[in-house]
Amino acid sequence: LRDGPLKGRHVVVTSGPTHEPIDPVRYIANRSSGAQGTAMAAALRDLGARVTFVTGPADVPPPAGVDVVRVQTAREMAAAVQATHPADAAVFAAAVADWRVENASGSKMKKDGSGKAPALEFAENPDILAGVSQMGAGRPGLVVGFAAETDDVVANATAKRLRKGCDWIVANDVSAETGIMGGDENAIVLIDGDGADIWPRLPKAEVARRLALRIAGAIGAG
Ligand code: C5P
Repeated sequence: LRDGPLKGRHVVVTSGPTHEPIDPVRYIANRSSGAQGTAMAAALRDLGARVTFVTGPADVPPPAGVDVVRVQTAREMAAAVQATHPADAAVFAAAVADWRVENASGSKMKKDGSGKAPALEFAENPDILAGVSQMGAGRPGLVVGFAAETDDVVANATAKRLRKGCDWIVANDVSAETGIMGGDENAIVLIDGDGADIWPRLPKAEVARRLALRIAGAIGAG
């Protein structure tokens, strides 16, 4: 562990997509690369934090010098996060699937020749961010959520902060034309109890560095 304002602090970071199985060889996923969550974990590590990095199947490898917990599904991610407490801060950068396939098949689904397509049924996944934000005793001192929006970014993210009960929301516009999802840059709006702070477009590593410094200001030694 390095010296820095977060020395002695434990920070949990979730990152990447989740995979929700349909059968043993098929799954539902999303376009999250894990880049922003990975950059967050590295930036927090660089400020001296002990980082537990709970990651779904991401495109980018996890950073060195953090404790990596690999998961596939949202429910596995929820259980893994549960096992990380106590934490001084938690940063939820993962793109968690809202739904899992409730009637997933234990064996590979096959065409039966009837021409009829199978019907998938969905069940809602646990909201990990909301659960931790509202956990009462043992809640991390700072809980940070992300909001990937395609329209009305500030209004939607401000409402999301209140609904989830987290302290900060890092909101970004993931409309296809921004190239942010899967790209190297991010343009965020940081929403806290005082309002919305619009940041310039920056490399994801620089967004992470600045967010880590803000986190250190909130929970660090100084
Ligand atoms: O509601 P929405 O999915 O837009 O919220 C995004 C935020 O909530 C992100 O911080 C994400 O990591 C977190 N989240 C979660 N568990 C879920 C869904 C979202 O932790 N099941």
